Amino acid sequence: MKICIIGIGYVGLVTATCFADLGNSVWCVDNDQDKVDLLNRGQIPIYEPGLDELVNKNYFAKRLKFTMNLNLAVKSSDIIFICVGTPSLKKSRSPDLQFVFEVATEISKYIKKFKIIVNKSTVPVTTGDKIEQLISKKIKKELFEVVSNPEFLREGDAIRDFRFPDRIVLGTNNKKVLKKMVSLYDPLIKKGAKLFTTNRRGAELIKYSSNAFLATKVSFINELANLCENSDIDVEDVALGMGLDQRIGARFLRVGPAYGGSCFPKDTKAITVMGDQFRTNLSIVKSVIKSNEKRKKLLTKKIEKILSNKVKNKKIAFLGVTFKANTDDMRESSSLTMIPTLSKKGAIINYYEPTGEKNEFSRLNNVTFCDNISTACLKVDLIIIHTEWNEFKAIDFKKISKNKKLKIYDMRNLYSPHKMNKQGLSYYSIGR
Ligand code: UGA
Repeated sequence: MKICIIGIGYVGLVTATCFADLGNSVWCVDNDQDKVDLLNRGQIPIYEPGLDELVNKNYFAKRLKFTMNLNLAVKSSDIIFICVGTPSLKKSRSPDLQFVFEVATEISKYIKKFKIIVNKSTVPVTTGDKIEQLISKKIKKELFEVVSNPEFLREGDAIRDFRFPDRIVLGTNNKKVLKKMVSLYDPLIKKGAKLFTTNRRGAELIKYSSNAFLATKVSFINELANLCENSDIDVEDVALGMGLDQRIGARFLRVGPAYGGSCFPKDTKAITVMGDQFRTNLSIVKSVIKSNEKRKKLLTKKIEKILSNKVKNKKIAFLGVTFKANTDDMRESSSLTMIPTLSKKGAIINYYEPTGEKNEFSRLNNVTFCDNISTACLKVDLIIIHTEWNEFKAIDFKKISKNKKLKIYDMRNLYSPHKMNKQGLSYYSIGR
């Protein structure tokens, strides 16, 4: 099929590449000249495992093309995907929809024959209706149909999530359009992906409620971890014991510092605004947001406690600073609260991050990027495991730190407390 993807961010690039890999002819459009040039030179602007090779494979097979020419891309496609960002507005909990509406207005200039316009950007309920109204002002309603098709791709696992989705959600009441969309996704459906169809507003809400529910699950287990720490119970046992109940499920019950990223924080806020707009108090999600915010401070306090509340001149190594492993994304990472607070209190911080140095810390006092684990950890008082990269899972702490009084704070529970204590290491983790 001939498709076009507008917006070459995480979602747009992964979606475009994976559709091309299924044999479709895909135009990728972005108004960022540098990004388009970079991709046309065979380099990719984001870190996503496996994406590099897949982009190049499909680019050379001429199934994947990058351009700034929206007219050409729209003209050459039957299905147009909107995949632009919807970041939170500054000083507001609402998402900024200007890019979505700009794209809708722009494409309407170039539609001369029937096109399916698929919105993949995460947008509040009724946005599909608004896109339809906007385009209807420029062209006849017979020339287009707006469908909602939310994405459920995790950064770091995006290719796998595209290829083996738990479900594909399509929001439209138009049977002919649905048939065409189903045939686009047919290779995935044949491999076992479940298809779920509903109306457009329903699909829009499924996206937000899924992220809000997952964020709730994560916050729930994180709060239980606090209880476990005070009651001598291992939270890992609680998570396993709960997760075995199929009504609950084991996934997204891994404890951690506080959820972050570009999606959970933004989407939990947005769904509460949506609730307020429809005069519905989503009090559970509101308390999840508060709980998660508190957690960043709570864990920073715990770091101070581990250092006997004497942070000044203490040497701390952070392993991983992004919001989770397998991504270079710093958005809403809990390290953005922890590192500046500790630096202000006089700590001397090294950090190692597999995806490289981060601008966010470049102006902080005594915060140094190290390009390997050994340098970061040498002679430090405390090692903090902040994300769960594989390379953090089998470290010989004694050898690497050369400090007999070393303390370790494992925020992802990668190590066994029993084994660590047996080695004589002063080991702290989450909820156990
Ligand atoms: C999330 C959703 O999982 C995707 O389905 C969705 O498509 C995406 O948002 C989006 O809306 O675009 P992502 O933000 O990439 O994906 O990351 P997740 O793997 O969901 O993790 C989010 C946060 O929760 C991270 O900080 C992670 O460390 C934390 N988390 C996740 C836990 O602390 N414990 C868990 O068990 C799972």
